[in-house]
Parts: sequence; C-alpha cells; structure tokens
Amino acid sequence: MKCSNRINGVGTSPVRKLIPYANGAISKGKKVYPLNIGQPDIKTPDLFFEAIRNYKTEVLKYVPSNGMPELINAIKDYYSGYGMEYAFEEILITCGGSEALLLTLLALADVGDQVLVVEPYYANYNTIFKALEIDVVAVSTKAEDGFHLPAKEEIEKVIKNNPKIKAILLPNPGNPTGTVYTKEEVQLISDIAKENDIYIIADEVYREFVYEGSECVSFGTMEGIEENLIIIDSISKRYSACGARIGCIISKNKDVIAQIYKLCQSRLSVPELEQVGAAALYETPDEYFKEVNEEYTKRRDTLYAEMSTMEGVVCSRPEGAFYSMVKLPVDDAEKFVIWLLSEFDINGETVMMAPGEGFYATPGAGINEVRIAYVLNVEDIKKAMNIIREGLKQYPGRTV
Ligand SMILES: Cc1ncc(COP(=O)(O)O)c(C=O)c1O
Repeated sequence: MKCSNRINGVGTSPVRKLIPYANGAISKGKKVYPLNIGQPDIKTPDLFFEAIRNYKTEVLKYVPSNGMPELINAIKDYYSGYGMEYAFEEILITCGGSEALLLTLLALADVGDQVLVVEPYYANYNTIFKALEIDVVAVSTKAEDGFHLPAKEEIEKVIKNNPKIKAILLPNPGNPTGTVYTKEEVQLISDIAKENDIYIIADEVYREFVYEGSECVSFGTMEGIEENLIIIDSISKRYSACGARIGCIISKNKDVIAQIYKLCQSRLSVPELEQVGAAALYETPDEYFKEVNEEYTKRRDTLYAEMSTMEGVVCSRPEGAFYSMVKLPVDDAEKFVIWLLSEFDINGETVMMAPGEGFYATPGAGINEVRIAYVLNVEDIKKAMNIIREGLKQYPGRTV
C-alpha cells in the first residue's frame, strides 16, 4: 500500500525541520532560543477567556458552516473601521488563516494551474500547492532591495510566459521578509491582476504589525479589483491567539464565496467556543495594538542593530510582521543551524532558526539565508544574537 503521489510530494516545513536537533540540544541540558517559529509570546487578551467563561450552553453544537453571526458581524465592523465595507455574506469563518488558504486555493485552481508568488514566501503555501498539484511560479526579490517588488514589466513578463497563472498569492506585511508593500506596489499588483484577469489572494494576517514609517495598505481598499480579490485573515497574530484556530475568507466575488461555502459546508463547522472568544477579541481597545507594536519595534530594532554589526551579514530592516530574512556568511545555512544546535553553545545556550532555502521556489536560492522570528523579549534576542555572532566566528563553513 502506498499513500498518494500528491502527499508524497509534500516536503517538510523549514520552520519545524530541525526540531529533532533542537530536542537533541535540550536533552543534553542546553537552553535553545526558538527564533524559528512565529509563535508570539504576547498574552492573549482576557476578553477571549471571559467571553467563553460567560457563554452558557449545554451542548457544543455544529454552528453555521459560514461562521457564527456574532463573529461575522464583529469582523464586518472591524473592516468597516478600516474603511472597507463588506456584507455579512461576503465573510466566511475558517479554522485559521491556514484553512482559509487551503479552501481558497482548492476553489480557484485546478490541477496543473499556476499560482504566482514573490519569493521568498511563506513556506506553508508549498504544502497546499503540492497537495493540490498547483504549480508555483516565483518572482524573485532580494534582501539588498528590502524584498520589495521588481518593476511591473518584470512581473508581466513572468505572467506572459506562464499562461496558466490563476492567482497571485502574497502576504502583506510579509512572512518571511517583514516587508510591507508601498501603496504603489499594492496598486501595481492590483493593476496586473485586473489587466490579466487573475485573482489576488491577499494574505493580510499581519495587518496591524507595521512599524514607524510604514503603513499597511490593504488590497481591500483598492478600487476596481472587487471581483479579483480574496482576503485571507486570522486572529492568530492580531490577538496572539494562534491556538484558537480562527480565521476568515473575505471577498466581494459572489461566485468565489458560493464555491468556497460548499467546502465550508462539507467540513460542517468551525469550533463554537473559539468563535465566541474570537468575537469578543474584536472589542480589544486600540491601546493593546499600540503596546504590542512598541514591544515588537524594540525587538525589531535590537535584532537589526545586532545583525548590522556582524561581518558579512546582509539584513534588511523589517518594516512589519515579526520576521527577518537574513543572509549569513556561511556555505549552507541549514548546516550552520544544525551545527549551532549540535556542537555550539555559550554557557549552555544556543539558538534555533529556520533555514532559508524552504522559503524559495528557485532551486538553490536562499541557501545561505535564515528566517528569524523576533518573538522573544529584548534580553533574550540580545543573548541569541550574541550566540549567532560568536557562532559565525567559529563555524568551520564560514565564508568570511
Ligand atoms: C503569512 C501567513 N499566512 C497565514 C498564516 C496562518 O496562520 P493561522 O492558520 O494561524 O491563522 C501564517 C502563520 O504563521 C502566516 O505567517
């Protein structure tokens, strides 16, 4: 017996790939700073837990497949606050942004269709592409340019050469890059999608995580792309509620929503209690975001300041989200991370990062890069940076 070729083609997550090495280090009594995974350490607002405690029910039911009305209405109001007016019927609640992505791609692309991404890109997209037999086409961006988009002609050339492109899928603010697209870039993608009749899947789960000088321009604010646009959203990062598994799909394209709704019906329901908690989270005062962003700004600044002084390291200053894609002066970043975990420590402490190659579609790209998630407090980030600095000096495969 054999599992499907489809599933055999799915690779290991670069974020979790080296966990056995981290476990090895931990079993030897070492402390490992986890810079590999985007799990925020910020407290989930109490509103979530209070709402669930106060919710009276005797039976945990299948709730409506499109989501509980109180949550849909809360999301509707939240979008309205950003000047984006969506109707109740234009919002579908999902099990996290992850299910939102899966259902959207399932509804939009046939086997052998292509989806355009901007590399480096969120590695989990690959799992869905492989599982659905969607071919990925990548436009490349570089750390030296802050991972911003290339000229319109370059993107159009890729589209002309790949007639099966059905959609452009991009996170903004970006994971793994921390790049926040300018209004001009959002306009550029919108124009391209419109002119070429392709969908935009705008993954905006980090919308609030933008630091001074940058602004997250939602694709939902662009005019004329209503039929092209599907927004992917989630409470995971916004309210540090990854474990609640609540996200949504938003679109004014009636057909797309109707098709995805069939998939929602087939999985019956998203958990009831978590939707009750999520609806309450949308009442979180703005002060929360201000405090959280101040904290992430400090972390970002610490990471960037430390990285900038390391010889041979190329690091663009992240503008949003909580990731940085960093080029290291090493032969192979995966080997370097394994070496850090297996053979290196400072006073019994070492670090875990996600090797960069898994965030690229182009073979060999990102081989000397790592993705760092700055989800630790400033003191821990400083300690982790010191371990990387000293590790780079001693690593046998260093290139400077
Ligand atoms: C860019 C991006 N999109 C979507 C997700 C999915 O998040 P969730 O399924 O927790 O909502 C993540 C999670 O890290 C992400 O980084």
